Amino acid sequence: MIEHQLERFKRLPLLDAPTPLHRLERLSAWAGRDIYIKRDDLTPLALGGNKLRKLEYLAADALASGADTLITAGAIQSNHVRQTAALAAQLGLGCVALLENPIGTDSPAYQHNGNRLLLELFDARVELVDNLDDADDQLQALAVRLHASGRKPYIVPIGGSNARGALGYVRAGLELAEQITRSGQTFAGVVLASGSAGTHSGLGLALAQALPQLPLIGVTVSRSDEAQRPKVQGLAERTAELLGIDLPDAFKVELWDEYFAPRYGEPNAGTLAAIRLLASHEGLLLDPVYTGKAMAGLLDGIARQRFDDGPLIFLHTGGAPALFAYPEVWSSQPITA
Ligand SMILES: Cc1ncc(COP(=O)(O)O)c(C=O)c1O
Repeated sequence: MIEHQLERFKRLPLLDAPTPLHRLERLSAWAGRDIYIKRDDLTPLALGGNKLRKLEYLAADALASGADTLITAGAIQSNHVRQTAALAAQLGLGCVALLENPIGTDSPAYQHNGNRLLLELFDARVELVDNLDDADDQLQALAVRLHASGRKPYIVPIGGSNARGALGYVRAGLELAEQITRSGQTFAGVVLASGSAGTHSGLGLALAQALPQLPLIGVTVSRSDEAQRPKVQGLAERTAELLGIDLPDAFKVELWDEYFAPRYGEPNAGTLAAIRLLASHEGLLLDPVYTGKAMAGLLDGIARQRFDDGPLIFLHTGGAPALFAYPEVWSSQPITA
């Protein structure tokens, strides 16, 4: 049913094949548990990541509206802004981004390397702001300014997380459900990072319809369960409404919020250990802001027996370019043991 509803929406076909789902051999041996990974870090634009899925729908809408500029906002090291700027370059659109420094760091690497460096290459125009506490209003004000100077801006919300953007993860959820069904296995859960919530809400909506027994666990990266829950629930409701369907009965928000301290954008010891473990056992790169925290949650969940029996799936949402923005964090954790 969702499949047919999705077809009503314009989509730029940027991802023409499913991202791989495969077993992590050495990590599974290390953990004593079958762990699979869904490789949304391998989406085919500018070092990959989850945002391309949302942008398939958002950029199609932007083009349909006659826009000539994508505008968006995020942290200086935002992966979302990097992918939006790259897509704007590919489509021949302008890109203007409002950037904040959410951890107040004056680290040159944070301010200039990693994702921020790539924005220069994509020729995005950047405006630094003190904070993004009223991001929607700030983007609206930017749109008014650009209009006044003759541009036709299209607002891509923070993280691409409105109902239209979440459609990309509804589609991803259907794709994953098909891969799971084809594998013939009964998985005990899917784990992902839950931030601006579009990934969690969209995936949850599709999986609740296609595989209603499968638990989906969002590891929060920015806020407590209490603060994150209404974001995920509300966006899922708005996405269902946009699709013209009821939220499936099986849709349930499950959040683990023990892994994001001290705050958004700052890794903790568990984050760094998870990054190092995946790098040293699988040659796989996680990131210090999202996937390192989500993987720390998955591994701790196994250790604390928080899952039912069965293999697990980790959704890799990308983010590795940010590794180059945080060289200092490893000094308290020497790379060689
Ligand atoms: C690498 C990475 N993983 C996960 C997320 C979280 O996705 P969402 O904002 O849809 O919750 C983001 C968001 O920026 C991200 O960049």
